[in-house]
Amino acid sequence: MSIIEARNIQRSFDEIKVLSGLDIDVKKGEFLAITGRSGVGKSTLLAILGTHDLDHGGSLSIADTSTDGLSPSELAALRRDYLGFVFQDFHLLPALTAIENVILPTVFSGGNLEIARAQAFEVLDKLSVRADETPTSLLSRGERQRVAVARGLVNRPSVLLADEPSASLDEESEKTLFDLLDDLRRQQNFALIAVVHSTGVLSRADRILELKGGVLHEVL
Ligand SMILES: Nc1ncnc2c1ncn2[C@@H]1O[C@H](COP(=O)(O)OP(=O)(O)OP(=O)(O)O)[C@@H](O)[C@H]1O
Ligand SMILES: [Mg+2]
Repeated sequence: MSIIEARNIQRSFDEIKVLSGLDIDVKKGEFLAITGRSGVGKSTLLAILGTHDLDHGGSLSIADTSTDGLSPSELAALRRDYLGFVFQDFHLLPALTAIENVILPTVFSGGNLEIARAQAFEVLDKLSVRADETPTSLLSRGERQRVAVARGLVNRPSVLLADEPSASLDEESEKTLFDLLDDLRRQQNFALIAVVHSTGVLSRADRILELKGGVLHEVL
């Protein structure tokens, strides 16, 4: 059973073709690792799968709903109900605390803030980020990365799209993060699509796909 289905995805910037007819099926609950050289289009692909970038060719379905022709508010509802994101450059609001950043998607989507706050405290605690009054601008890069992960999880998504979520972490913190993601995936059965490079993390994935020449290749 697929939670995301994309067919013949194409994306160019000016004259440069980055994605050229890419297909992908993401099964419920699976951990799909995406790898590939810098500049090959991994972040571009995640932005398309997450419906942040709509300027692409081909078709995309999320939870059996085609994104083609949806209004901005229908797309926002689809994102709210199914998707969580961890951006490569975090996209945190620097003046806000960790908790405030984590519950921000819930504020925007009009969800239950009490539940979101409780979940935010729990996930930040598991990721060893202190949930106090410190603005995130004063946190270390690795701490900010973990806040970004916690924010991606707070709405209990069906799919977490994570762009190099452990790039700023040491080996032990990376293991802690992926142990937590494994635990949560078992409890909540969300699919994890993560751009990853480290062999330790790649070995945990159900499938590894390499982006090369504008399309995905299965890595054995
Ligand atoms: N908005 C944009 N305008 C112009 N070019 C862009 C835009 N976004 C991405 N690109 C180009 O598309 C290509 C793919 O970029 P992308 O960020 O997806 O690569 P990546 O695989 O995520 O790289 P990295 O591993 O360094 O994060 C790059 O050549 C980049 O310059
Ligand atoms: Mg990238």
